[in-house]
Amino acid sequence: MTPLPPRRLRSGSPGRTCSSAGEHLVDIEGVTGSIPVTSTRGFAPFSRGPRIHLARFPRRRYTPGATPFEPLPRLSAALGGPEIWVKRDDLLGLAGGGNKTRKLEFLVADALAQGADTLVTVGAVQSNHCRLTLAAAAREGLKCRLLLEERVPGSYRPEAVGNNLLFDLLGAERIEVTGAGTDLATRLGEMADAVRAEGGRPYVIPGGGSNALGALGYVACAEEMLAQTFDMGLALDAVVCASGSAGTHAGLLVGLLGADAQIPLVGINVRRPRAEQEANVHKLAVETAALLGASAEVPRAAVTAYDDWVGPGYSVPTEEMVEAVRMLARLEGVLLDPVYTGKAAAGLIGLVRRGAFKAGQRVLFVHTGGAPALHAYNTVLADGAGRA
Ligand SMILES: Cc1ncc(COP(=O)(O)O)c(C=O)c1O
Repeated sequence: MTPLPPRRLRSGSPGRTCSSAGEHLVDIEGVTGSIPVTSTRGFAPFSRGPRIHLARFPRRRYTPGATPFEPLPRLSAALGGPEIWVKRDDLLGLAGGGNKTRKLEFLVADALAQGADTLVTVGAVQSNHCRLTLAAAAREGLKCRLLLEERVPGSYRPEAVGNNLLFDLLGAERIEVTGAGTDLATRLGEMADAVRAEGGRPYVIPGGGSNALGALGYVACAEEMLAQTFDMGLALDAVVCASGSAGTHAGLLVGLLGADAQIPLVGINVRRPRAEQEANVHKLAVETAALLGASAEVPRAAVTAYDDWVGPGYSVPTEEMVEAVRMLARLEGVLLDPVYTGKAAAGLIGLVRRGAFKAGQRVLFVHTGGAPALHAYNTVLADGAGRA
């Protein structure tokens, strides 16, 4: 893999002033960075650096600290390539953990600021995002309604376990199932109208929590993991993540670019053709950088979202996914999921085998969670090993 050239977000114009969330930023030409000040008098604020200053955005906290950053020595040895590490975002807070928890910290804070009493969101039939939105709603004393998209015909089974069981346990107020091809944004809007008509105050969260506000969760993750690499004295040669509704990929990209970390980010696409997914990620990264106030220049060349491990389609099992799920479980005691991280890890393993990452390099895999969905795939994943 050709390393990407150094890149950075272009900073805003000197002398610009902006304010957000009760704080005030003033830029003075000739100094780099930006700091929030509560008063414009008596401070000499910085200017010119990318304005990645997440504390300006209201946030709820659902995880007490940083997620672990761990080596995977047995997987690395088995593959005979680079040193592989994992960022354990499967251990984030809320019910069962996973990447949506980081996005929901910003989205739910916004919902509460707007006085909402009902979250309305959408996902696939075994959606981790829907599980975690329900959990956040429960934590905040909000109600929650779900729109489930049956992307694969016949895949919604009300009796199915995995996340489907958890939707019920976590107290979904209403679940509506719709076929692939439905205009989801329109239907979500209608569901929000129905909440309003009943006297409620809805807050609509897009699929995967993937708008610019949600993607801030993964800007925060990039900052967190860069701090961990510094603490541990570990330089990274690449970061690999799953790429679905794009918020994780876009947020990480903006965080890495904003820090000028010069670490290539490799997305493993779980659903769409490569060009389409890369365009989605790029668009969202530009929007996220703009929300942060960095005059957005996210190079299109910084977005890679391989589609070689999607297989026959979203959520449809592949041999490589099954191999990856079993390898991580048996070599490292780490549970992946069949839809996202199983395919993303299959991509990581495939790239190592292709020689894209080599011995002597260090690669970080961002484990974005999803293990509760394993239970809905038991017939595909279990091989009966160890049974008498
Ligand atoms: C476990 C897991 N990993 C990765 C992803 C992909 O993240 P994103 O939708 O932000 O691209 C998802 C999305 O639902 C997920 O549930």
